[in-house]
Amino acid sequence: MKNTGKIGIGPFSQLLSMRHLPVKGPLKDEQLGIINNAGLIIESGRVVEVNDFQQIRSFCQKENIPLEIIDQAAVCVPAFIDAHTHICFGGTRAGDYAKRVGGKSYLEIAREGGGIWDTVQKTRKASQEELEQGIQKRVASLTKLGIATIEIKSGYGLSAEAELKMLRAIRHVNQHTEIDLISTCLPAHIVPKDFSGSSREYIDYLLNDFFPTVQKNGLSNRADIFVEDTAFDIPEAKFYLAELKKRGFELTIHADQFGVGGSQLGVEFGARSVDHLEASGQKEIELLAQSDVIPVALPGASMGLGEPFAPARQLLDAGASLAIASDWNPGSAPMGNLLVQAAVLGAYEKLSIAETLAGITFRAAAALGLNQQGKLEKGHLADIAVFPTSDYREIFYRQGQLLPCTLWKKGKRIF
Ligand code: NIG
Ligand code: FE
Repeated sequence: MKNTGKIGIGPFSQLLSMRHLPVKGPLKDEQLGIINNAGLIIESGRVVEVNDFQQIRSFCQKENIPLEIIDQAAVCVPAFIDAHTHICFGGTRAGDYAKRVGGKSYLEIAREGGGIWDTVQKTRKASQEELEQGIQKRVASLTKLGIATIEIKSGYGLSAEAELKMLRAIRHVNQHTEIDLISTCLPAHIVPKDFSGSSREYIDYLLNDFFPTVQKNGLSNRADIFVEDTAFDIPEAKFYLAELKKRGFELTIHADQFGVGGSQLGVEFGARSVDHLEASGQKEIELLAQSDVIPVALPGASMGLGEPFAPARQLLDAGASLAIASDWNPGSAPMGNLLVQAAVLGAYEKLSIAETLAGITFRAAAALGLNQQGKLEKGHLADIAVFPTSDYREIFYRQGQLLPCTLWKKGKRIF
């Protein structure tokens, strides 16, 4: 009798494959196509079959495929994807928090030399090993939420050497964890206070002295920029984005957080995603709806700063996509809990459960240009989260208090 290395898993009270759902536009829970009493078969890290459990069981028995029996109420969903984080950093910014709740704004604190610059100094002082330990700890805590793919940005080094140290730390942890870590270069986070030259000269420096090493060493193929008054203006960002696009980098932008302009650039340059969007208005919403750029809401930054949420409902109703990410960073979004944040955004913005779930699965995958994650269908990676409940609505209803009991990454059981 043959055993092909396949394994069957089930029964699940409900399985949400998300397989027929579109990348853009509003979603209703009725579109989820839930399979009750479901099972699946995985092989070599991929899903090869999703079906009714009776069918899966008889197929497995006939073909002598081992079956892993789930003996409790369980909801099976694609493992989650956190498409925007800054979890490589040194130190904390509790001091900024105290100032903010005392009435100072994020931008005021930044202008006074706190904010991002404060974390840059602490991150420069940290060794690569110390940064790796911090990343590992935060990856472990995201994994507990059912997240199996995490984007991590550089951006707290702001010199070629310190940015490369961050990217190497991310790569090293990626090589030693089952979870996929996707790195993004954000050396254009702000102009570092110790750079003797203009913003435009800083960009020239990055293009000449940083990005070639990144490419030569295969450290990242994604580039980000913070477009904002206290960071980089539109002409500077245009120059940076045009040059990096020419060099083959995928683009993403910290856009429309306090003022507009960044999202429009994202559309113009065909960025994969534009993230933040708390300040986006009707014009930006329409531009995004007409494009294939993925808008990414970062409710953790809104909650961290006490700012409005991105107009998630309006974006979806206009026909745009919507991914939701944690933005986990020491300044604006220290919470690092995507499940809490997605549930809270859903409550405030009136998102259907399907829309919230799509935002942290296949729409988050689209924000990262990944087309084999975020859905449970034949050929996709066997990245699977299982929640101990018989009703999928419990996941967001419980606002982050219901945690998955099991997580598979590429067919390997993580817990
Ligand atoms: O996405 N807005 C810019 N960058 C980060 C915050 C970085 C920080 O404050 O350390 C964000 O919110
Ligand atoms: Fe961010």
